[in-house]
Amino acid sequence: EITDAEFDRLYRQLQELEETFPELIIASSPTQKVGAPPSTGFLQVRHRIPMLSLSNAMSDDDLDRWGERLGRGLALSPAQVEQLKFVCELKIDGLSIALTYRQGRLAEGATRGNGEIGENVTLNLKTIASLPQELKATGAQKFPDLLEVRGEVYLPVSSFEELNRALQEQGQPVFANPRNAASGSLRQKDPRVTARRKLSCFAYFAYLSDDVVKEPVTHEATLEMLEALGFPVNPHRKVVCGLEEVKQFCLDWYERRHHLDYQTDGVVVKLDDRSLWDALGTTAHSPRWAIAFKYPPDEEETLVESIEFDVGRTGAVTPVACLSPVRLAGTTVKRATLHNFEQIRRLDVRVKDTVVVRKAGEIIPEVLRVVLEKRPADATPTREPAECPVCASPLERSGAEVVLRCPNDACPAQMQRRLEHWVSRDAMDIEGLGTVAVGNLLSAGIVRDPADLYLLDEETLTALERMGSKSAQKVLINIQASKNRPLGSVIYALGIRHVGSQMADLLAEHYTSLKDLIAAPASELDTLEGVGPAISQAVREYFARPENLAVIDRLAAAGVNIEHLEKPSRLALPQTLEGKTLVLTGTLSSLERSAAEKLIKAHGGKATSSVSKKTDYVVAGTNPGSKVDRARELGITVIDEAQFKDLLDGRS
Ligand code: IVH
Repeated sequence: EITDAEFDRLYRQLQELEETFPELIIASSPTQKVGAPPSTGFLQVRHRIPMLSLSNAMSDDDLDRWGERLGRGLALSPAQVEQLKFVCELKIDGLSIALTYRQGRLAEGATRGNGEIGENVTLNLKTIASLPQELKATGAQKFPDLLEVRGEVYLPVSSFEELNRALQEQGQPVFANPRNAASGSLRQKDPRVTARRKLSCFAYFAYLSDDVVKEPVTHEATLEMLEALGFPVNPHRKVVCGLEEVKQFCLDWYERRHHLDYQTDGVVVKLDDRSLWDALGTTAHSPRWAIAFKYPPDEEETLVESIEFDVGRTGAVTPVACLSPVRLAGTTVKRATLHNFEQIRRLDVRVKDTVVVRKAGEIIPEVLRVVLEKRPADATPTREPAECPVCASPLERSGAEVVLRCPNDACPAQMQRRLEHWVSRDAMDIEGLGTVAVGNLLSAGIVRDPADLYLLDEETLTALERMGSKSAQKVLINIQASKNRPLGSVIYALGIRHVGSQMADLLAEHYTSLKDLIAAPASELDTLEGVGPAISQAVREYFARPENLAVIDRLAAAGVNIEHLEKPSRLALPQTLEGKTLVLTGTLSSLERSAAEKLIKAHGGKATSSVSKKTDYVVAGTNPGSKVDRARELGITVIDEAQFKDLLDGRS
C-alpha cells in the first residue's frame, strides 16, 4: 500500500509510457480500468452508466493542455475556449456512490466497484441522515420515474477523530484517514454500525432517463435541481468563464479548504454546457469534459533519521522526528513533531522507520503513522529522556499531564525560546533579531531576559557575529519602536502558559493595565468569558514569581508600555481602487510584493495572482513574467510602478 502521491506519480509515468508506446498497453493496465473490483460480501450491481474516474491536472500547465484538447475536440479557437463556462467544485476525498430513485423513492444504492459492477450497499446508504429517502416535492413538479444520482460519501473530520478515539479506547485498530474510515463504515455488514458512524454525502451528478422531467441543459442547473429535490450539494462551487478563472478558484481554495470539516484533495472542473459532454465523449477511463485539479500532496512517506527532543519556552519537552527531506504542500519538510512521548509509544515510531508525514496548510508537519512493512530489523525504539537534553536537569511530569518538562527556568533552551517569542511578530515584533542573533546574545551573556534587550547599544550589537552597523542600527530602532506595542502584545510576549494572543488582548482590554492584571485574584479571572481554570491558574502562577515581577519592573523602567491605550482610529485611505482587480508581476523597485498587495487592499482593490478577463490592471515591475503577454492577449491595461502609484493616489 502506498500514498496517494506515490500512486499518482506512478500512474502518470505509466500514462506517459503508454502514450509513447501505445503497442504496450495491455487490457489489465490500470489506465484501462477504474477502481477496485467489488468485494464478495455484498450483492453485485451493474451500473446503468459506467462510473468512470477523472483525469488529473497537477499544474496550471496541465489545465492549459486540457484547454487545448477541448479546443481540438470542439473545433474552437483558443479565444473561444477562453469563453467556455466551467463549474468548479471541491473534490471531496471520500468514495463515490450511485443512488437510484424510482418514482421519487430511494430504491438502490451502490459503490463504484470496478466502474462497471459495484456493491449493493442500499441498507447502509439509507442510514445516512443527509440523504433523502424520498425526493422533496417542489410545487407542481412531478417525480421522474427513474433518477440516478451520483455523489461522494465522506466522513467529517470531526467524526473521524471521534471514531478513532472510540476505537482506540476499545483497543481496536484505528483508521488511517477519513476516506478509509468512510469506506470501511459504508461496507459494514450490520447497517446499525454504519448508522453510528455519522457518514455524510454530497451529490454532484444526476441522470434522468425519462421524459417526465426535462434534463437540465447545464451542470449548474443540474446541481440546483438536486438541491431543490433535497440532496446535499456542496455550496462551495462556482461557475466561471475560461481556464484563468478556474486557476483562480483552485488558488483561492488552496488554504481555505483546510478550514472545512471534510477532506478535499483538489478541484473538479466540469464544462457547464451538458450538450458539450456528448460532443466530447469519454475515454475508457474518464470523461473528456471534466478534469480533477489535484493539490500538491500533503501526505508523503519518508525516513526517520533521528528523534530529537526540543525544549520550549515553558520547558515542555517535545519529541521531533528528523526526516529525510520530503516535499509536502509546496515546502520541503525535514522535521515533524511527535507531540509527546505518549504519541511515540502509541505510533511506535523508531529511528530508521519509514513513516507517513502530513503537512496540511499552515499546520506544523506531523508524523501520522509508521509503515510497518518497511521497518528494518535494526530499528530501535527511543527511550523516554530522564534529563533535559540541554541543561541536564531531571525532567518532571505534573499530575496526569503527558508533557515532560524541564523545571529549570535558567535552562539555555528555555531562555532562547522565551526571547524568540518576545521578539516574534505577534508579540513585540522586533525585526532583525532572529534565532542566530538571539543565540549569540545569550551565549555572550549580554542578554538573559527581555528587559536586557532595552539596554543594548550599537557597540555591543556590532560586536556580535554577522551584525554590521547598519543592521545593528535597524535592530535598535525596532527595539525602541517595540516599547509602544499595545498592552495585549506585551502580555502575549511575556509567554504565560495557555495565554495566546487573543486571550492576551482580552486580558488587556479588561484590566487596562499590567498592574491591575498582576493584582487580579484568581476568583475574578475565572469569571471572565473564555478564561478557564487552566488559564487563570497559569496567570496567577506566572505573577506569583518574584523573578517575573522583577523583569516586568525593569521593562516598565525601560519605557515599555504597560497600559491599555485606546486604539487610534486608523486613518481611512481614499478608496481609489474600489472594485478594481490588479495582478502584480515582476519586481517593484520601491515595494515588496506583500506590501504592494496590502496597499491595493487598503485602497479598496483586490490583488489576485492570475490574469483573467476580470483583471483591470496588470502592474509590471522589472523582469515581468508571462502575465504581461497574457494581459496583452486579453487586452488588459499593463501599467508600470509609477502609474501604479498614481492610481493609488487617485491621480490617474
Ligand atoms: S465528478 C466521471 N465531482 O473524485 C466521474 N467527482 O478522481 C466524475 N469526487 O470518482 C466524478 N468530488 O469519487 C466528481 N465534485 C466531484 C467530486 C468527485 C470527489 C471523486 C469521485 C470520482 C473521483 C475521481
